[in-house]
Amino acid sequence: MAKEKTRFVCQACGAAHPKWQGRCEACGEWNTMAEEAPAPRGPGPAAKAAGGRRVEFVGLKGESAPPARIPTGIAELDRVLGGGLVPASAVLVGGDPGIGKSTILLQAAARVAAAGRRVLYVSGEEAVEQVRLRAARLGLTESPMALAAATALRDIVASLEQERDAALVVIDSIQTVWLDALDSAPGTVAQVRACAAELIRLAKARGFAIVLVGHVTKEGTLAGPRVLEHMVDATLYFEGDRGHQFRILRAVKNRFGATDEIGVFEMTGTGLVEVANPSALFLAERRGNVSGSAVFAGIEGTRPVLVEVQALLSPSSGGSPRRQVVGWDSGRLSMLLAVLEARCGMSLGQNDVYLNIAGGLRIAEPAADLAVAAALVSAATDRPTDSGAVYFGEVGLSGEVRQVAQAEARLREAAKLGFTAATLPRRVARGGKAPAPPAGLALAETGHLADLVAGFAEKSVRPRRAGG
Ligand code: TYD
Ligand code: MG
Repeated sequence: MAKEKTRFVCQACGAAHPKWQGRCEACGEWNTMAEEAPAPRGPGPAAKAAGGRRVEFVGLKGESAPPARIPTGIAELDRVLGGGLVPASAVLVGGDPGIGKSTILLQAAARVAAAGRRVLYVSGEEAVEQVRLRAARLGLTESPMALAAATALRDIVASLEQERDAALVVIDSIQTVWLDALDSAPGTVAQVRACAAELIRLAKARGFAIVLVGHVTKEGTLAGPRVLEHMVDATLYFEGDRGHQFRILRAVKNRFGATDEIGVFEMTGTGLVEVANPSALFLAERRGNVSGSAVFAGIEGTRPVLVEVQALLSPSSGGSPRRQVVGWDSGRLSMLLAVLEARCGMSLGQNDVYLNIAGGLRIAEPAADLAVAAALVSAATDRPTDSGAVYFGEVGLSGEVRQVAQAEARLREAAKLGFTAATLPRRVARGGKAPAPPAGLALAETGHLADLVAGFAEKSVRPRRAGG
């Protein structure tokens, strides 16, 4: 057998390369290579000879009870998890440093412990004193959970093996845990993968739920949690801007629930507080009667969320115009601008375009197209949109406004928050006629983006010259 050489593993995606490279060919990230000793060989062909047991195959029909749940007592977190933590499952909580991962997990751990379950919190990042300080700030000092500062995997595993009835174990963070049998430094892919595998195996064997905290950083020193996503049952990302008080917890993978479900929190002086009505929060700072603003009636997971889309146009100072987007896809913005030019006769090409989703939410839905277009046209014509109106609908390349899912839920949320009008795609009656809109909401069904633009032109008294 050939002598095994060290290899270079991308810390972002886990791809192994024989030579060092500045850029990983597999994922395209720069400066993510770290040298690692070869991974220990698996069972290989020997497994065939060793004679495994016969696996039992069963039919699809059968009685399987839904998984039991450990409610965390934080409704927003429970919803994202699909109803609470599942015993013997592994959850990865990722997010930028300082976003609030330790805070929410300490809060959740305290609630689970308060319900009489055994909870262990292993902090590898902070000393016991620091965690205690945070607990004091959160008013959790009386919590019966058990806290330890440890980073050596052997110690953690040995301790967990002596636990009889642990229900929840939090490892904060997986990048600080290390196995001395491996040459690689803590936080490298090899370490993170090996330690996580061992901890998850233990959780499955012992029946406790394990939560692993993982940092998302661009630097190569910490392994991107992406390598862990395959190993865990659920991956939650904590998003938000540290400059904003809002935090969004988003499920990107969930074997026991829906993905793309979000939980909304507000970071306060005494920890994270659930936001039961995110629409009201996201719209709280909206100022009526300004041009370049439109309210989008969106859906996040199963929940309708209204957010303000803001657009600003300014004459470009030569060169190629700027396109600056926060909270939305910049490719999608370019497409919309092209459609507005080619299909609706607007010339925006000479303007710098800034687009912002207020409140720090990231929107991935194509349904936001119509709201973004409304904000852009409003900015271009310097005419405010109707402050009582919401917008939703996907825009196609020929300028047609296309149907989007869950129109009724969007309309209901808009009516609930006191909106009086909605601009939306033409409603196609499926098996009869479209359901009546909620009381008090006037619908403006729009088949083509040009109709939206024409609406502004009618109102417009002083259209702004492009490039002027
Ligand atoms: P933390 O949970 O330590 O983040 P992470 O574990 O994701 O790195 O949160 C750190 C930030 O949150 C820090 O900037 C202080 C702030 N914070 C509050 O605003 N209020 C609080 O009650 C707590 C505990 C932290
Ligand atoms: Mg932390």
